[in-house]
Amino acid sequence: MSEERKMERTLIILKPDAIQRRLVGRIVQRFEDKGLVIVGMKLVQMSRELAERQYAPHKGKPFYPGLIDYITSGPVVVMVLQGERCIEIARTLMGKTFGYEAQPGTIRGDFGVSQTYNLVHGSDSPETADMEVALYFTREELLDYTPAGSEWVFKAVEG
Ligand code: RTP
Ligand code: MG
Repeated sequence: MSEERKMERTLIILKPDAIQRRLVGRIVQRFEDKGLVIVGMKLVQMSRELAERQYAPHKGKPFYPGLIDYITSGPVVVMVLQGERCIEIARTLMGKTFGYEAQPGTIRGDFGVSQTYNLVHGSDSPETADMEVALYFTREELLDYTPAGSEWVFKAVEG
């Protein structure tokens, strides 16, 4: 029996180091090349309140204060990607959390070596994605459309 189709959305953050290092275009390209669809995108200066909501699951961990300082240290790009299995696909493209462990060919593996400054965030479950997307975007700001040529990208995923 074919697996159930899982059309998903995920919240991606290009963190302050990605913007400061002028890597926005190259990182967005990775997601576009793979076939994920950008349905929302904006540049945001995160407040500490917003950062604390984003990273609430990490509150109390030793790296939490540094993480809040980092994510509020400059503008970030927040974007919502859409596609079947896009949560898992995006995290595979990102690579392991720490740059020095991430495989070559992944975003973190190709562009960084740091433990904290790891360029990109991606939601880790559908529930987390719903919560995170709602932190940055209203329903009206998310645009559902079918990119030209989609039939050539998505047919294989459908099986
Ligand atoms: P993210 O949430 O940003 O997509 O990253 P992740 O799932 O791969 O990693 P997570 O465990 O959720 O950690 C969130 C972010 O906190 C920073 N971190 N620093 N110094 C440390 O030991 C440490 N551990 C985590 C990273 O910026 C990580 O992305
Ligand atoms: Mg995480």
